[in-house]
Amino acid sequence: MDGLFGKLRQLDVYPKINEDFYSRTLSGGIITIISSIVMFLLFVSELRLYLHLVTETKLVVDTSRGERLRINFDITFPALACSIVSLDAMDISGEEHLDVKHDIIKRRIDSHGNVIEVRQDGIGAPKIEKPLQRHGGRLEQNETYCGSCYGAEVCKREGFLQRIKDEDGEGCNIYGFLDVNRVAGNFHFAPGKSFEQSNVHVHDLQAFQKESFNISHKINKLAFGDYFPGVINPLDSVQWLQQAPYGMYQYFIKVVPSIYNDINGQAIQSNQFSVTEHFRAGEVGRIQALPGVFFSFMIFLQSR
Ligand SMILES: *[C@@H]1O[C@H](CO)[C@@H](O)[C@H](O)[C@H]1NC(C)=O
Ligand SMILES: *[C@@H]1O[C@H](CO)[C@@H](O)[C@H](O)[C@H]1NC(C)=O
Repeated sequence: MDGLFGKLRQLDVYPKINEDFYSRTLSGGIITIISSIVMFLLFVSELRLYLHLVTETKLVVDTSRGERLRINFDITFPALACSIVSLDAMDISGEEHLDVKHDIIKRRIDSHGNVIEVRQDGIGAPKIEKPLQRHGGRLEQNETYCGSCYGAEVCKREGFLQRIKDEDGEGCNIYGFLDVNRVAGNFHFAPGKSFEQSNVHVHDLQAFQKESFNISHKINKLAFGDYFPGVINPLDSVQWLQQAPYGMYQYFIKVVPSIYNDINGQAIQSNQFSVTEHFRAGEVGRIQALPGVFFSFMIFLQSR
C-alpha cells in the first residue's frame, strides 16, 4: 500500500516548497487579480456561447398538397356591434364559409372597452340562404325585409332587428380560428349578412338603415398556424382608425409555410407572412366598395 502511495507522490508535478520560502509581492497580487478576472470573463463568455441557440434557416420546396391552413385571429371593432358584423371566408378552390360561427367567440364591448357579454357566436342574424327577393332585385328603402323572407325566418328577423337596436353604439371583439384550404383565398369581416346570388357574393346591408359603417379596428393577433419561437406576425397590435365615412380596408398577405425544428428534433409546421395594406374610400350610398375589413392571402410554395 505504502509503495502505491509513494508512486502516486512521484507523479506530483508541482512539488511543494516549505511556506518559509514564499515571498508574496504586490505585483504578484495584481497579476493574480487581473488574471482571475480574465479567466472568469473567458469562462462566462465561452459558457454563453455554448448555451446560445443558433437558428439555421433553410429554403426548401414544399411538395405537400391538400393540407389545411389554420388562421388564428383576435380583432376588435370599437364601433361595430356584434350582431352587425359577420365573418366570411372563401378560397380559389371554390370553398366558401359564409357567416362563420363555429370556433368563433364574439364579445360585446361598450364604448370604454369593457366586456358586456361573451358568446360563442350565435349573436348574428339567421343565415339567409335565398336572395332577398325572388326576382333578384334589392329591397326598396321602405320595404320591410320580412316580406321577402320565407316562413320561420320572419320571427328570427324581428329578434335580430331588436338586437341591432339594443347594441347600437357598442363595439365587438371577435376571436377564434378559421380552418381553410391551403390555397389562396380571402376572409373578411363585414357588416351585413352575406349570401350567394347568381354566383356573386352579396352582403345585405339594407336591414340596418344606416348609410355608413365605422370599420375602425385593432388586430390584437393574426397568425397563420401555430406559434413557434422567432415567428413575427407583423399585424399583431396593429390599429387603424377610420376617418372617411365609408370604405373598405384591405390587407394583402403573402404567407410562407415554415417548419421549425427545435433542438430535440420536434418539428412545428407553421407559417410566416408579410403584408401590405390599403384603404379604399367609397362614396356614401353607392355600394361600390363593400364596407369591411378584408384579408386576401396567397401561399408561397417554399418552406423556410
Ligand atoms: C314606400 O313609401 C312610399 C311613400 O310612403 C309608398 O308610396 C311606396 O308604396 C312604398 N314602397 C313600398 C315598397 O312599400
Ligand atoms: C370610428 O370609430 C373610431 C373609434 O371609436 C373613432 O376614433 C373614429 O373617429 C370613428 N370614425 C368616424 C368616421 O366616425
